[in-house]
Amino acid sequence: MWRLPIVLGPMANAAGGRLAGAVSRAGGLGFLGAGYYAKDTLLTEIQAARAAGGGGDDGRLPVGIGFLAWRLEKLPRADAEALVDTALDAHPAALWFSYGPPGSAEAWCAYVRKKAANPAPALFVTASTLEDVHAANASKLVDAIVVQGLEAGGHGLGSGRPRDELLLDAVRATNAAERPKLLSAGGLADGRDIAGQLALGADAVVLGTRFLLTPEAAYTDAQKQLLLHAHGHDTVRSMAFDDARGTTDWPEGIDGRGLRSATVDEYDAAARGLSWHEQQQQQGRVPGIEARQERYRRAMADGESARMITWSGTGVGAMHDIVPAAELVERLAREAREALAAAQTRLGGARTP
Ligand SMILES: Cc1cc2nc3c(=O)[nH]c(=O)nc-3n(C[C@H](O)[C@H](O)[C@H](O)COP(=O)(O)O)c2cc1C
Repeated sequence: MWRLPIVLGPMANAAGGRLAGAVSRAGGLGFLGAGYYAKDTLLTEIQAARAAGGGGDDGRLPVGIGFLAWRLEKLPRADAEALVDTALDAHPAALWFSYGPPGSAEAWCAYVRKKAANPAPALFVTASTLEDVHAANASKLVDAIVVQGLEAGGHGLGSGRPRDELLLDAVRATNAAERPKLLSAGGLADGRDIAGQLALGADAVVLGTRFLLTPEAAYTDAQKQLLLHAHGHDTVRSMAFDDARGTTDWPEGIDGRGLRSATVDEYDAAARGLSWHEQQQQQGRVPGIEARQERYRRAMADGESARMITWSGTGVGAMHDIVPAAELVERLAREAREALAAAQTRLGGARTP
């Protein structure tokens, strides 16, 4: 699945073929964030991934493709299947289904298992709770379970758990010889973080925000500059981002982590007095939504960075430069090796040659 256990998570509107291809070419595994793609865009980005990914002559696409399961569920069934079939026709290394209503990701995995030609793509799903891990494991359909902690940038379960806690529970509750690969995601910034996850028992790690700080990411220069200057405590989990964009049809319980901004402050002021649970239930109905969306639209047209939506994980404070994705993958792997070797020395154990 990968030469280096470093995976670029799918990032809708941020990780296209150029970025995913560069990560896979460097030995990691890159995913296209295909969540909002129509068929034409998917085909264009697949082509870009092929160009950047340096795949062999076997016709396989060296990257994975990440779908938002809830979006597939909202499409007419034939359109959703046509999107997934388009992905399958490219013979991708992997497919990833995330953020669906219960059972949806596994149902799409079953669809792929039935349809895919050999070699079939590896199948990834996201787990935000131990129950998710058990469900994915029990389905026997999945090759990789990505344990996502609440530190993660972008969308996730608002009532999720800290990454390390969830990863350790997942490692302890499953049999390494029989379970799918376990990956961990959320708040990871450098090779030292990666070393920590591997030591806890993860088979590989998933990074999102760190890869936004590459020339290949589709984020604007203004968004990248905000990330470069942000600290972890500048990030916040909120419904404000989807409220402003008008993307309020995510499944209940899902919010997103991004940089605090005037958009968030305004939403918080309107939602003051409502509990997080009430905000969830009132998704898209916190008073004043039309005015907030209008202000957001105008601010984006005027390039006003104070209102911009910049998804970000808590690791952002340890990200200090914009580097080409391939260089980043190599650097992360080198740093992780050095951190693990230093830990082994501290333990006094023999170094394996
Ligand atoms: C801008 C952005 C967009 C994202 N879009 C998706 C998506 O479409 N599908 C998905 O499964 N995860 C999505 N994620 C989550 C990432 O795949 C990954 O799990 C997460 O970024 C890891 O946390 P980190 O950002 O702290 O490294 C997104 C994250 C970001 C930052």
